[in-house]
Amino acid sequence: MPYAQHYSQHIARLCDIYSDALTLSGFGAVLLHSGSEQTYFADDQHPTFRANPHFLHCLPVNRPDQMLLFIPGEAPIYFQVIAPDFWYEQHITLDDWVACAFERIPLARSTDVTTHLGPLLSRHGIDLAALAFMGENTAFGKGLGIAATACNPPTLLNTLDYQRACKSEYEVASIRKANQLALRGHTAARHAFEDGGSEYDIHMAYLQACGMLDEDMPYPTIVALDEKAAILHYQNKRRESGANSQVLLIDAGCRVNACCSDITRTWTRPATSPLFKNLVEAMEAMQTALIASVRPGMPYPDLHRAAHEGITNILLGAGICRGSREALIENRMSTLFMPHGIGHLLGIQVHDVGGRMKNAQGEIQPPPEDYPALRTTRMIESGQVFTVEPGLYFIPVLLNPERNTARGKLIDWEVVDAMMPLGGIRIEDNVRVTDTGVENLTRVLI
Ligand code: GLY
Ligand code: MN
Ligand code: MN
Repeated sequence: MPYAQHYSQHIARLCDIYSDALTLSGFGAVLLHSGSEQTYFADDQHPTFRANPHFLHCLPVNRPDQMLLFIPGEAPIYFQVIAPDFWYEQHITLDDWVACAFERIPLARSTDVTTHLGPLLSRHGIDLAALAFMGENTAFGKGLGIAATACNPPTLLNTLDYQRACKSEYEVASIRKANQLALRGHTAARHAFEDGGSEYDIHMAYLQACGMLDEDMPYPTIVALDEKAAILHYQNKRRESGANSQVLLIDAGCRVNACCSDITRTWTRPATSPLFKNLVEAMEAMQTALIASVRPGMPYPDLHRAAHEGITNILLGAGICRGSREALIENRMSTLFMPHGIGHLLGIQVHDVGGRMKNAQGEIQPPPEDYPALRTTRMIESGQVFTVEPGLYFIPVLLNPERNTARGKLIDWEVVDAMMPLGGIRIEDNVRVTDTGVENLTRVLI
């Protein structure tokens, strides 16, 4: 199995990270809890379960009430809870490469963990008062006798969040695979669009080609025809035929071993407006150049600023804006057309943690005042995985208020009115930073 060696190294690295984090935070051990299922208000149904990301980072088992115990210097212990049940399937299948990384203790109820915790901790001279708990269900942790102050202690979480930015080979292999699967879906989606499919048809073609269910997606797919492409997280799936559509913007990923991909493509048809097609081409070229510029030691906001320079040039070149380059920059015209950040860290969560962390102590590097939406402000480092996703949209709620302003004089409204029904463009790839540059995990042959 290709993950086997990578995974044992991943766990060894995590053991070191957890040992250091425990020492720094003054705890002797930590119990990670995957979470508990919760029902909707006044209902017996529950949303799809998604485990504590720190738990998934260690163990790709997306199931409630599972636990992992980290004691420095020891292999992690997995308390595998399989309750006797005839309503739901409770069996958990572990790949061999996962199973052999842990000592596994099967339990019929999660509270049975108490019978093991005391002896395990005392064998290592650790008092229960030195046990930290990590997970959403702190009531469960407190029920085990863990103090409220030891539940999700910020010092421990800050170190773990900060370290998550740099990925192990196991995570990179998983994200690469999640890219390959998603690309199969993107190809099928493109064909469904070319065949005149509706947003719903395109979504279903995507899932089918990936072999996934909606609940397996790292985030709800964004399948936007024409003007809907201007809604950044467009969530609907229209059933009307797309036979006359000119543009498909599809933002969709996959999950492998709980690791995400996050890919956006913008497709046109032969009859699509040539101006829009040229814009797509220019955006693709700019995105490629941005990725090629990524280097360790570069502040991530520099990439964002470079994207805005590129958008400014494209707006001028396409005749969407007029005036001098300086006037466009001074009036921040590009922010009307790209209101989101250039990207974000990617891993167990699609918007992975720690993007604005300055250090493992939890100091925050806020976004630049002129770009408050930027999710990533930290220094680019070897081993990080993030997205690069420039966009250029014709968003009525941003543009229309400018129609009669001084700023609006820098816009050619005839061109904008012609482009608004086509929505917009986003091109998004996932990259891994290397010691000397960057590897694009999305542009691979499959
Ligand atoms: N798919 C959401 C994003 O690109 O951030
Ligand atoms: Mn993204
Ligand atoms: Mn995306």
